[in-house]
Amino acid sequence: QISEAEVVMFSAPSYACQRRTSLNNHNTVLTEALSLLADNAELSGDEGRGVAFRRAAAVLKALPKPVTDMTQLRGLPCLGEHSLRVIKDILEDGASSEVESTKRSERYKALKVLTGIFGVGVKTADRWFREGIRDLQQLQDSGQTLNQAQQAGLEHYDDLNQPVTRAEADAVGEIVEKAVVSVLPGAQMTLIGGFRRGKLTGHDVDFLITHPEEGREEGLVPKVVSRLESEGFLLYQKTTRNSYLESQDGPARPSSNMDRFERCFSIFKLSEEEKRGLKQTGNGVSRIHSHRVPGPEAGHKPWRAVRVDLVVCPISQFAFALLGWTGSKLFERELRRWAGHEKAMSLSSHALYDTKQRRYLRATSEEEIFAHLGLEFIPPSERNT
Ligand code: CTP
Ligand code: MN
Ligand code: MN
Repeated sequence: QISEAEVVMFSAPSYACQRRTSLNNHNTVLTEALSLLADNAELSGDEGRGVAFRRAAAVLKALPKPVTDMTQLRGLPCLGEHSLRVIKDILEDGASSEVESTKRSERYKALKVLTGIFGVGVKTADRWFREGIRDLQQLQDSGQTLNQAQQAGLEHYDDLNQPVTRAEADAVGEIVEKAVVSVLPGAQMTLIGGFRRGKLTGHDVDFLITHPEEGREEGLVPKVVSRLESEGFLLYQKTTRNSYLESQDGPARPSSNMDRFERCFSIFKLSEEEKRGLKQTGNGVSRIHSHRVPGPEAGHKPWRAVRVDLVVCPISQFAFALLGWTGSKLFERELRRWAGHEKAMSLSSHALYDTKQRRYLRATSEEEIFAHLGLEFIPPSERNT
């Protein structure tokens, strides 16, 4: 029994972007429970409650030690009544009945499976659930019309729900970089998203592409995509063109959190050889698909599907795009909330606008953006909120 005096009290600033959150989480049981409740709230269309649970989980992720006693949490921000009750149940009984019953509920299980299909959001999954669809088999049998993304998502469901490794991310990076440099010499590519934060696996691989000469990057995505397509690397792709200049949103304030860069959401076909870095590609020659005689493990296909996101930005916006696409999602949300609520500024992946000074604040590095925001610089590896 630990006496009250020996209990470590925790403290933390209230915005996640003011804290360092490494991948070394000392409270995984608690944070996984709160994340599950956040998922469940989001699957029920209650985004506000979802964010509240995510903020609570984020505070616990940043603690230097496991929580052992409720008294340690006094004075910590973002822990509402509901989150505290869940934490208390787990500390006292080893489990929270709310979490356990949510995990077992028909609706939660079905919506997790259905939203696990690439291209399927909460609204669609919920409609299917209300029509009695509970799993992939029932979806296929139902004859529901699926769009192209959803068809691809269903077809590659198992692959896309298997975490992407760092080695696979690097293999994809080599392929994309060759294609990018061949259609635009001098273009620069940066690994962003979870892998830039040092994660060992991810649900996809994200890249940011730019060119040191402003404007040269325009129209790059379609060229890269047709190159990759001719080489047989793409199982699916959806390209969106840049719509920043024609947008009516005003200073750094896209109408949604969605930015307006030219981009491509894709599904890559990554062969075993490419994963092991054995395959040489390039020079515009159409790549020969592997026609290997099936090995002893019958039915084993020699490739796997991997989700890849490509984003292109002009060099003048690079620092903002880099910051905005490195994540985590909660860290980004908290940065924007800090900017708006504490600094009367507006931050997006394109720019930072100072409402009082009525001007854009320039930056060529992430460090400068943190400085403009009056925040201590938090490196990518400590943005794992
Ligand atoms: N992002 C965005 N707009 C989108 C999709 C993503 O700005 N339409 C940003 C997110 O805010 C995040 C980054 O892109 O900062 C990466 O998103 P995502 O790949 O979904 O998450 P990761 O953090 O990379 O997680 P994972 O490792 O699971 O891929
Ligand atoms: Mn990612
Ligand atoms: Mn992504």
